Amino acid sequence: MDWESFYDTHPSPSTHEPTICEVENFVCSHENEKIVFVTSGGTTVPIEHNTVRFVDNFSVGTRGSASAEYFLQCGYCVIFLYRSNSLEPFVRHFNNSLLDKFEIVDNKSIQMKQSEFDTLYPVLKKFKDAKEANRLLSISFTTLIEYMWLVRGCCMLLDTKYCMLYFAAAVSDFYIPPSEMKEHKHQSNDGPPLIALRLVPKVLPAVTHIWSPNAYIISFKLETDAEILLEKCKSALAKYKHQLVIGNLLSTRKHNVKLVSRDGIEDITLSTADSETGLEIEYLIVTNLEAKHDAYIKSKQ
Ligand code: PMT
Repeated sequence: MDWESFYDTHPSPSTHEPTICEVENFVCSHENEKIVFVTSGGTTVPIEHNTVRFVDNFSVGTRGSASAEYFLQCGYCVIFLYRSNSLEPFVRHFNNSLLDKFEIVDNKSIQMKQSEFDTLYPVLKKFKDAKEANRLLSISFTTLIEYMWLVRGCCMLLDTKYCMLYFAAAVSDFYIPPSEMKEHKHQSNDGPPLIALRLVPKVLPAVTHIWSPNAYIISFKLETDAEILLEKCKSALAKYKHQLVIGNLLSTRKHNVKLVSRDGIEDITLSTADSETGLEIEYLIVTNLEAKHDAYIKSKQ
């Protein structure tokens, strides 16, 4: 199935239009400013309409959420499309410890513990600044079909040289068409479910050639076998003809990535000493991409 037939046969979810209106308002209020569209987290493929079980794609959301913070720091406006309940910019720093940072005073009010000021303040300040200046819009998906529709709707609104598309989400290559899904939870006394997965069409050809041909486009490639990573990145670049593929291995993704473009291959490595200072590889990725995007914008003038 090609991507056009996929959209023809899978109607958009009911929440789609209002979300795209929000994105449109955001984009309109940042005309001629640099905007980055960051996708993050893994898509789910439900096996029942009333979903109890689903097939998931691996992604915690660190790459996307950390990158979103550094893009804001570099002056970008950020549209953050993330899997519900995966990591989000700023909040990610306190995911497991937020309640520990507050105390109840006289059973009347709640205040931050003074000892937490130094960790909470800088993050909260950056978050508030971004929200108050309307520079961060977060929208969420859960299923593959929600993701596919939101990517299409957003990319169609992001077709200028000032836009960067940064596809860090882990998107399922397989799915079960809703017409073939059971209505209710599969019962174990019916025996093991026989699931026939279908191939999901790639949307990158539509992004690069139809929806956002003027944007600066970066796709990611995740592999577990180091032997095939570079070949996979090069073949994605040759096939989709976009600007850059970032290759990473599951086991080393937090300290090594490969940037593959028509100009060659760049290796970005975070040393142990760097990571001990709190530096994250996403900072190195984003500052590198900012320079590339600036050169791209200049070349289009
Ligand atoms: O979130 P973390 O835990 O920090 O992990 C980050 C990460 C490892 C998930 C991230 O760095 C990463 O590599 N993301 C991409 C994972 C991947 O290889 O996805 P993919 O094989 O499903 O897709 C490859 C490319 O094709 C992607 O850029 C995707 O947008 C595109 N694609 C995918 C499916 C589809 N139907 N159409 C597409 O165009």
